[in-house]
Amino acid sequence: MNRPQLLPYVVGQWVRGERFYGRRTQLAEILDGQRDSVWLLGTRRIGKTSLLKQVEWLTASSPERGYVPLFWDMQGATEPGELHLSFHDALLDSEERWADVGVSVSSLDPADLFDSLARVRRRVRGTGRRLLLLCDEAEELIDLQGKDRSLLPKLRRAVQSTAEVRIVLASTIRLWRLAEQSSDTSPFLHGFTPALYLATLTGEEALALVLQEHQPREARPALLREVAQKICHACGNHPYLLHIVAKKYLELDDLEQAIDSVRADRMVSHFFGVDFAMLTRMERELLRALGAVGAASREDLESRVGTEEGGLNGSLLRLENLGFVVRTGGRRVRLANDFIRTWLEGLGPRESEPRSSGLDSTAFSQKLTEIMTELQRLPEGSAASPEELLDRVYEELRKLAHRYMGRERLGHTLQPTALVHEAYLRLVDQSRVDWQGRTHFFAMGAKMMRRVLIDHARGRGRAKRGGDWLQISWAEELFANPQGLLSSEQLIDLDRAIEALTAVDQRQARIVELRYFAGMTVEEVAQFLGVSKRTVESDWAAARDWLKERLQVQR
Ligand SMILES: Nc1ncnc2c1ncn2[C@@H]1O[C@H](COP(=O)(O)OP(=O)(O)O)[C@@H](O)[C@H]1O
Ligand SMILES: [Mg+2]
Repeated sequence: MNRPQLLPYVVGQWVRGERFYGRRTQLAEILDGQRDSVWLLGTRRIGKTSLLKQVEWLTASSPERGYVPLFWDMQGATEPGELHLSFHDALLDSEERWADVGVSVSSLDPADLFDSLARVRRRVRGTGRRLLLLCDEAEELIDLQGKDRSLLPKLRRAVQSTAEVRIVLASTIRLWRLAEQSSDTSPFLHGFTPALYLATLTGEEALALVLQEHQPREARPALLREVAQKICHACGNHPYLLHIVAKKYLELDDLEQAIDSVRADRMVSHFFGVDFAMLTRMERELLRALGAVGAASREDLESRVGTEEGGLNGSLLRLENLGFVVRTGGRRVRLANDFIRTWLEGLGPRESEPRSSGLDSTAFSQKLTEIMTELQRLPEGSAASPEELLDRVYEELRKLAHRYMGRERLGHTLQPTALVHEAYLRLVDQSRVDWQGRTHFFAMGAKMMRRVLIDHARGRGRAKRGGDWLQISWAEELFANPQGLLSSEQLIDLDRAIEALTAVDQRQARIVELRYFAGMTVEEVAQFLGVSKRTVESDWAAARDWLKERLQVQR
C-alpha cells in the first residue's frame, strides 16, 4: 500500500493555529479571566510554549479582543542585562505590530528594559487596548533575582501595579524557588497564585489531535478511530506523547511496536527524569508506590508511603494537577500513562535520601496543606475558627521543627519568613482554602512561627550551644549580625523584648511580630491592622528604637 508521505504530527516544536488542539479552559482564563497575573504551571513538554504562542496568534489577529500581545522568551538570560536584551529581541520579532501602535523598536535602548516597557505600555494604552505580556521559561528569573535583587520588585511595579498590562508567566514547578529565596522576592509570585495548571488534554481534545481534525479530510492521516482511541488511552491524553506515538504508528503500522519504541525513547525518558527530579520527596515516593502497584486507594498509599512527613492529600492533588496521576472510581488513583510506569521501573531501587537533611521547608508546607485539605472536608457549619486552626497548625509544626532542627548542623540557617511565604503560596495553590486574603494567613503565620521558633530555641541546652542558626529579616540592626543571623540565645532575648514591648504598646509589638516573623510589608501590616501606612511606619520606627535600647541593656 502506498501511504501518503504526509506526517502531520509535530514532535518537540511548539504548535499554534490549526495545529493547536484543545486548552479551551486555559485560553478562556488567560483571555477573559478575572486576573491580570496568570502563572501557567506545567511539566516539560506539556504545551506551555504552544499555549502562549496560540494566545499571541489569537490576540494579534483579532484586535477586538482588546490586547496587543508580546511573546517574551526569557530563556538563556543568565545576567540581568541579558534579560533586557531578550525583551528587546521579543520586540524585534514582532516589530511590525509595534510599528502599528506607534513604537519604533529600533529607537528603543536595548539596555533599558524598564524604559522600553513603559513606552510600549503607554503606546498600547493610546490604542485603547492592553499590553499582554506572554513570558516563557520564567524559571530564568530565579537566578537573575539572585544576581540583582532589585529586578523582580521593579518588574513587579512595571507590570502588576497597573490594569494596562496583563501578564502570563509560563514555567515548571521550579519557579517555586523564588518563594524559597529571601522574603522580598516572594511578593512577586503572590500576585500569580493560585497557579493555572496545564496538564493533559481532555479525551475529546486528544482524539481530535490524533485524528488531526483541524485538517481538511484529504490531508488527515489514515488512521482508524479505534486505533486513535487506543493511542489516547496509552498516552493518557498527553499531547507530546500523542504526537510521538501517532507518528511512530504511521511509520511502523503496528501500535504495539510503536508504543514499545516510544518506551525506549531516550528523549521521552529524559523529560520524565527532569520533571521527576523537581518533585518533593513525598511526591516521588507516591509515584514509585503507584509504579509498583498500578492503581491504589488513598489508604493503600498511606500505608506504603507513610504520612508521617505529611502532605499526602496535597501531594496527590499536585500530582494530579501536573498530570502524573489520575483519579479513578472508588477514590483510587493511578499513573496517568504507562510510559511513566515504564520509566519508574527503570529507576532502580529507591533512592536512599536522608530522612533529615537539615530543614526541609517543603515538609512544613506539606503538613500545612494536609491539615487544610482535611479541614476543608469538615461538614458545613463546623468550620474551624482561625484560632483553632492556628493551634492545630502549631502542633504539627512544632513536631516537625523538633524533628528537623533537633539534628541541626552547624551553620544551618532557617528563614522563617521564607517558610511562611512558601507555606502560603503552596497552600493557596493546592488546598484552595478560602483564606481571607494573604494578610490573614501571614498574620497567623507570624504568630505560629514565633511560637515554634522560640519553643525550639528554648529546647534542652540549645541556648547555651549558641551558633547562628536563624535568619530573621531586619534583625541585623538589632544585633549587628551580618544578614540578621541569630543564635538561639539572641532569639530568646528578642522574644522577651517583644513581650515586654507588648506591655508598653500592644500595637507596636504586633507590628514587630508581623514584620520579623512573617516579613509583611508596611502596606500589608496597615491593611491587616486597619490603620494607615503612616501609623505603621512611625510605630515600626518607634518599636525598633525601643527594642534596640532594650537589647543593648541586656547585653
Ligand atoms: N495544544 C496542543 N495541541 C497540539 N499539540 C500540542 C499542544 N500542546 C503541546 N503539544 C505537543 O507537545 C509538544 C511540546 O509542546 P511545547 O509547547 O513545546 O511544550 P512546553 O513548552 O510545555 O515544553 C509539541 O511539540 C506538540 O507535539
Ligand atoms: Mg516551552
